[in-house]
Amino acid sequence: MASEVYSEEQLNYFRVCHIATDILPQALRLLFKQEWDNHYKATLGEWKDTPHNGLDFKNGESLANQRRNARMLATMVNGDRAQWDCAMLFYAILFSDSIGHRLSPLIKTNVDDLRKFRNEDFAHMTEGQFSSADFRTTVAKVETVFRALGLSTVEIQTVSKQKSFPTDELQNVTTSNQKLTQDLQTKEAELQDRLKTTEQQRKVFEEQLQREVEPFCVLPPRPPHVIASRDCHVDKVTQKLFQLRKANENTLSYCYISGNPGSGKSQLAGLVAEKYYKEASKETNAPSFVMT
Ligand SMILES: Nc1ncnc2c1ncn2[C@@H]1O[C@H](COP(=O)(O)OP(=O)(O)OP(=O)(O)O)[C@@H](O)[C@H]1O
Ligand SMILES: [Mg+2]
Repeated sequence: MASEVYSEEQLNYFRVCHIATDILPQALRLLFKQEWDNHYKATLGEWKDTPHNGLDFKNGESLANQRRNARMLATMVNGDRAQWDCAMLFYAILFSDSIGHRLSPLIKTNVDDLRKFRNEDFAHMTEGQFSSADFRTTVAKVETVFRALGLSTVEIQTVSKQKSFPTDELQNVTTSNQKLTQDLQTKEAELQDRLKTTEQQRKVFEEQLQREVEPFCVLPPRPPHVIASRDCHVDKVTQKLFQLRKANENTLSYCYISGNPGSGKSQLAGLVAEKYYKEASKETNAPSFVMT
């Protein structure tokens, strides 16, 4: 795949190429038939791209013209305009004995302008680029001529505004993109379904837990003597646990109490746990569990 990104000037060049090599010959083919039918429908018959038409056209040419244009006439004699390139079409319309000599001055001048556009503006573009100003001038010129000749300018306008150039490759990329998006949407829907199921299961378990499990609180054995409530330390640990829980609500929070052997760590943990258990039991209907 070409990784090059085309500049606006290069795209202008492609647009002009498209006009000169596709839109222009189509228009000339229409014009030739129109002129032929004007002059010969009644006598030689309507132009229907048949070999018979081709032969009639060739026979209408003077010997000098036949000699001069022998190479082109070898193709033109088949009568199929689709096979006629711009050179053949300009010859047929502007310089042939059958049509060229009978052309109205208006048509002659305008078709000649198209010939100049093709042979001068288009054929001599060397850089493969067309500045925006030049592009606008050239397209406007062609459009004016098309209008004067009664030809449709829709295609010219479309290609002038075209921002991208659909190619097979681009088409393939777009198609696989669409497929990818579809796959993603399917996967997303599957995931949502699974999440829903998991959430439903979680609710069932939670309800089951609340129904079937009794709350409990197992604390370290109390010494036989009175215990100091150590409110300040209990608050500090509780506060710490609260902060930890808030910082990450979906995981377990850990708080380590360190100190010398027998300094009262286990009792302190028990005091914290007891306080937590009492408050949690008051605040929620959900069962609380404390284990030390
Ligand atoms: N809040 C308190 N009020 C009164 N006495 C306490 C208190 N906390 C601890 N003690 C006394 O200190 C003793 C040891 O306490 P505790 O078992 O909590 O210490 P510990 O730091 O966990 O010890 P170890 O390092 O052996 O686990 C208790 O049996 C108790 O006699
Ligand atoms: Mg201990």
